[in-house]
Amino acid sequence: MVICKAKDYKELSRKAANIISAQVILKPDCVLGLATGSSPIGTYEELIQWNKRGDLDFSAVTTVNLDEYKGLSPENDQSYRYFMNTNLFNHVNIDKSRTFVPDGLEPDAEKACKDYDAIVEKVGGIDLQLLGLGHNGHIGFNEPADAFTPCTNCVDLTASTIEANKRFFESEADVPRQAYTMGIGTIMRAKKIVVVVSGQDKAEILKKVVDGPITPQVPASVLQLHPDVTIVADEAAAALL
Ligand code: GLP
Repeated sequence: MVICKAKDYKELSRKAANIISAQVILKPDCVLGLATGSSPIGTYEELIQWNKRGDLDFSAVTTVNLDEYKGLSPENDQSYRYFMNTNLFNHVNIDKSRTFVPDGLEPDAEKACKDYDAIVEKVGGIDLQLLGLGHNGHIGFNEPADAFTPCTNCVDLTASTIEANKRFFESEADVPRQAYTMGIGTIMRAKKIVVVVSGQDKAEILKKVVDGPITPQVPASVLQLHPDVTIVADEAAAALL
């Protein structure tokens, strides 16, 4: 694991965007695995600026997102498809037909997960996967569990994740209780992984992820086994490393 420390969120975002940008420059038709949550927003803002300046071309890029709430439509402003459109896709020259997010409106969980795995396989796997980190160590929506999930699965969100994500909804009752998420296996098959971690409230979990035992109870700890992981953390998040 490479730990790349940044002084603050702005610098963290620039560093992460630089790594993604290098990937797109080296392989213009690459497949980017993308994440939602507040952590990558600054990274997307940088990428948008560089694209507008003409320094970064998304025209041949394909993207696959990590996860989506079950039951939310793409038009719902809390859906992750909506998040990606408003925080990145609407502002860069990407072909939206090559941007993929699990289908939150598919009620048949088995079908939704199988279909999404087929998409990831069809696009040829992920060149670079961007990740945020949940307070309980989740990546995507892979919550602490007894085993690592091999492929896309439907998860029951934990109370702590519902609590953490309620800030985006009108009330806690509005937070969906389930989500479709790429599995840990899918994430681990990405050639390169970049994790963005910001803030003091992530310091303890980041320490466990980097230095603790590898266990599905801390899903991101599995990243210790990946050959090419870069953690970009600001000083507050990296305080215990
Ligand atoms: C959500 C997302 C994750 C994200 C996590 C952390 O649960 N499914 O992909 O990494 O939240 O979010 P934040 O970056 O806002 O702390």
